[in-house]
Amino acid sequence: MKRFKILGTGMAVPQRIMTNFDIAKLVDTSDEWVTERTGIKQRHIADAETSSATLGARALANACERAGMQTANLDAIVVATSSPDTLFPSTGCWIQNELGIRGMPAFDVAAGCSGFLYALEVAACMLVAGSGKRIGVVGCEVMSKVVDWTDRSTCVLFGDGAGAAVIESCEQDVGLLSSNWGADGSLAPILYLPAGGTRTPATEQTVKDGLHMVQMKGNTVFRHAVRAMTAASKAALASANLTAADVDLLIPHQANMRIMEACRQRLDVPVEKMISIVDRYGNMSAATIPIAIHEAREAGRMPDGSTVAMAAFGTGLTWAGAVLRT
Ligand code: ACO
Repeated sequence: MKRFKILGTGMAVPQRIMTNFDIAKLVDTSDEWVTERTGIKQRHIADAETSSATLGARALANACERAGMQTANLDAIVVATSSPDTLFPSTGCWIQNELGIRGMPAFDVAAGCSGFLYALEVAACMLVAGSGKRIGVVGCEVMSKVVDWTDRSTCVLFGDGAGAAVIESCEQDVGLLSSNWGADGSLAPILYLPAGGTRTPATEQTVKDGLHMVQMKGNTVFRHAVRAMTAASKAALASANLTAADVDLLIPHQANMRIMEACRQRLDVPVEKMISIVDRYGNMSAATIPIAIHEAREAGRMPDGSTVAMAAFGTGLTWAGAVLRT
């Protein structure tokens, strides 16, 4: 077990809401199609000045405020994002800059939509190893700036937002009971952003070819997502010697209601125990799980002693399952 307690959580989303009806004015789609295939009704979309770090900094400040501490007193900032402010430095450093703090290590974890669970695992290991006492873990994304707004099969899926948690090492039996994380790099091409890195540097042609925007084989991702999320959750529950009957709350990555439902059914967790926010926010990649955690805590659905199963999959392909005891 990796012991820590959650001192505070926070979130931030851009003000502007784009409904399925709004998107139907841009591409050939409909509210009916998007709702039926994904469960998404609306998403928040960032303005030109807002980046992942802007939202991440707001969410982290919010989490620190609720934890009753200054952001400057964090011992580290671990950020999950796949829509970073820049290739370098890390979005963690930009978040530090936005918050006007310095000194503590700040870095990114790149694991797509599994990013928050990866970052939580990294931060929990740091606490257990004595590398700091209080760590800010952030998931932040501005996916709207990396999707192709002419591609109806991807632009309807994503939204922008950030969630954060401040975790502190402790002696009580709370924290991560178990986790199961992994990756299969052979599946990279099913969901990726092809250009802009050293593999395919930016040129006039890469811009013309739309290679700086998300490319996804939706059907293939769907199949792997269900399989990977279910297997990771089952493995995490088994290594904590728990079964689905012990789960008080299921927080799956909010990519698509059909994927979440398929995973829930395979795990045999009752529908009322699953947190679902995908209808209001769309897929905010690494930000979905921390925002779901934040909203669940605010709604009183994660009281002390809760057993929370979390699961995610993302570009890579990466996956992660974790069992949290609050
Ligand atoms: N509106 C209307 N029609 C559409 C739209 C749209 N927005 N998008 C696609 N279609 C059409 C297609 O063109 C296709 O038409 P055709 O049969 O004439 O060629 C038809 O709908 C069916 O397309 P499919 O891709 O087979 O539709 P599917 O039922 O698979 O749904 C979807 C597509 C929603 C993308 C689904 O595959 C999916 O959810 N995949 C997983 C995507 C996902 O969650 N990715 C994760 C993102 S990143 C992450 O979280 C790691």
